[in-house]
Formats: sequence, structure tokens, C-alpha cells
Amino acid sequence: MTQPTDIRRERAHRPRLLDLFSCAGGAATGYHRAGFDVDGCDIAHRPNYPFAYHHGDALTYLAHLISTGEIYRYAFVHASPPCQHGCALTVGTNASQGWGGTHVDLVAPTRALLELTGLPFVIEQPNGRAEIRKDITLCGEMYGLGVIRHRNFELGRWTAEQPEHVPHRGRVRGWRHGQYFDGPYVAAYGNGGGKPTIPELQSAMGITWTDVREELTEAIPPAFTEFIGRAALDMLATARTEAAA
Ligand SMILES: C[S@@+](CC[C@H](N)C(=O)[O-])C[C@H]1O[C@@H](n2cnc3c(N)ncnc32)[C@H](O)[C@@H]1O
Repeated sequence: MTQPTDIRRERAHRPRLLDLFSCAGGAATGYHRAGFDVDGCDIAHRPNYPFAYHHGDALTYLAHLISTGEIYRYAFVHASPPCQHGCALTVGTNASQGWGGTHVDLVAPTRALLELTGLPFVIEQPNGRAEIRKDITLCGEMYGLGVIRHRNFELGRWTAEQPEHVPHRGRVRGWRHGQYFDGPYVAAYGNGGGKPTIPELQSAMGITWTDVREELTEAIPPAFTEFIGRAALDMLATARTEAAA
């Protein structure tokens, strides 16, 4: 069993986490708060990312880290491959705009490379068609946020307990099919009628360091990955204790 002292030692030691498809660092910030040091990787220039990051293709970079052995600087990997191909909230829009076939599904090749690392990992996706195991599903209401934002996490080479889902307090505010709905949550996607302002989005997501709408609407609320990160640190502490015994 993990002892509190093991957990404290693991937290003091701050293992490194590789954050693939890192955008402006919603996920990264939660992991950092949990106790990881974080490096990112994104194909777009992301000056708002709050940690060091590699600017380039995540699959090429991960393959490079594996082939050189540099991947073993890391204790854990998180990946948020682009989701427009499969996200339930955008798939209708994409199809109506004729964009449906333009997004490449990067989930399967990302998983294949992550398996090669031998490290524990997480792949995150929203609800939709992307094929991941929903080992953990988190919701903004679990953390008192102003977004619902269900996100699924496939845990590779480790397990953690699914926290209980809590009932939503009401609806997502905005227009749907010509009707306006009020409610305690904002829609953190798109840019249409009734969508939140940037300050509303920042406050609802718990993200203060970017005011770029696209970065806010792509992000995982840091509260989600702070929860996952704490569970991962407990798992790593247990693994270290068992290896030392
Ligand atoms: C859903 S967002 C990730 C959100 C991030 N996890 C967060 O919490 O803020 C996906 C990101 O993947 C990046 N991206 C798309 N294709 C990529 C590729 N081939 N390699 C690296 N990054 C890529 C996009 O620029 C975008 O920033």
C-alpha cells in the first residue's frame, strides 16, 4: 500500500510528463498543479503555452524520442490528438460544411507509439467517434466549473478509479434550433449566437493565461488533469516503492 511519505517524496521529486498535442496548456497546467514538470509538443506555434514545448509534429517527435532513448526522461505521457474528426459537437458542422473527410484520425497511430514507450500514458478525447476506451470520464460539474465539457481518458498501462458523476445544475446557456436556453454553463465550443465572451470562457474553464478563443475552446479544464495527475503520481509512487522492495 502507498504510504503518505512515499506520495510526499514522489511529489517533491516532480517526475517529468510529456504533453503531446499540447495547445495552450489546459491539460499541462493541471498536471503541473498535481506535481509534474511538463514539456509540450504542438504543430502550431503556441506562445501562450506556459512551459517549454517542441514546435512540430507530435508523432514524428515521439518516434524520435523513442528511437534515441530520450523518452526515458519522462515518467508519464499525456496525448490529446485533434478531435474535430470525431467530436460529437463538431461532427455535424463539419459534415454540413463538407469538412468531414479532411481531418486525419491521429488516435490510433498515437496509441501505437505510446505502447512502444513502455510508459504509463493517457489519451484524452471528447465524446464522439474517436475510438478510445473510456476508463475515466470527467465533467466540469464535478469541479464546480462553468462548463460541462465531458472528457474521456483512456489509461494505458495503469488504472485509476472513476469518480462518481454528479447531476448537472441546469442547461448550457445559448441558442439551439432557434430557441434560447438559459443555464449555469457556457458553451466552450464554436463562436455562434449566445456563445460566451472570452472572460466568461476563462472563468468557466479555470484558465487565465490565454485569451485566444480557439485555445480556450480546445482546452481541457486544468481541474480534470489535476485529478488525473494526482492519481498518476500515486501510481508512480506505488511502482517505485514496489521496485525498491
Ligand atoms: C484538442 S487540442 C489539445 C488541447 C490541450 N490538451 C489543452 O488541454 O489545452 C489539439 C492540439 O493538437 C495540435 N495538433 C494538431 N495536429 C498535430 C500534430 N500532428 N502534431 C502536434 N500537434 C498537433 C493542434 O494545433 C492543437 O493545438
